[in-house]
Amino acid sequence: MPEARTITLAVTGASGSIYAAEMLRALAADPRVVKVNLVVSDNALRVLAEELHLSGRNGLVEKLLGAPNEKIQQHPESDIGANIASGSYSTDAMIVLPCSMGTLAAIATGLAQNLIQRAADVTLKERRPLILCVRETPFNRIHLRNMQLASDAGAVIFPTIPTLYNHPQSTAEMARNFVHRVLAHIGLPQPGAYIWQPDSPRS
Ligand SMILES: Cc1cc2nc3c(=O)[nH]c(=O)nc-3n(C[C@H](O)[C@H](O)[C@H](O)COP(=O)(O)O)c2cc1C
Repeated sequence: MPEARTITLAVTGASGSIYAAEMLRALAADPRVVKVNLVVSDNALRVLAEELHLSGRNGLVEKLLGAPNEKIQQHPESDIGANIASGSYSTDAMIVLPCSMGTLAAIATGLAQNLIQRAADVTLKERRPLILCVRETPFNRIHLRNMQLASDAGAVIFPTIPTLYNHPQSTAEMARNFVHRVLAHIGLPQPGAYIWQPDSPRS
């Protein structure tokens, strides 16, 4: 993977807006990441309003980061003519965080009906890393089958299951740790990330 990375971040309407917020912060702060193509689904906006009390698409990045960020380009979910809709536009990885069962189903079956689904389809056809941070509980057999289908097509199923052995003191810390794991998986290890050391003394 090259040093200067271009990452696609899609946020869909599953619970876990805090993960998306932490991911955006990490990508914005990472000097190796030169461009983030961000797509937030309409249904994700509904969940963001519920979970983080943020309303509307306008100024969303500023609200999440506390300041504007030049390297983040937000695309409407409906813009199937955006750069990331084409395989000729080079991206290093696409992360869907959180990934709803609806978007999982669409990706698993190649529907490509909005920009998130199309960009994921393109990521798979170009054999680039596609990380689906799925969230639902419990799973029905359709969810399980769709995860298998997506995995067989090359996606990584990376459920938003937090670790507790690092003793997170807040939901933000828990989410940050999860984000660190995702970024390490695509070759972007983060400074300060928790790494399990079995021999370290425990309190
Ligand atoms: C507060 C809230 C929480 C939700 N949580 C989930 C969830 O965890 N997983 C999921 O698959 N859908 C969840 N949904 C339902 C999705 O938002 C819904 O299926 C939607 O159609 C997904 O659309 P999208 O994939 O285009 O964003 C939730 C909806 C709301 C309002």
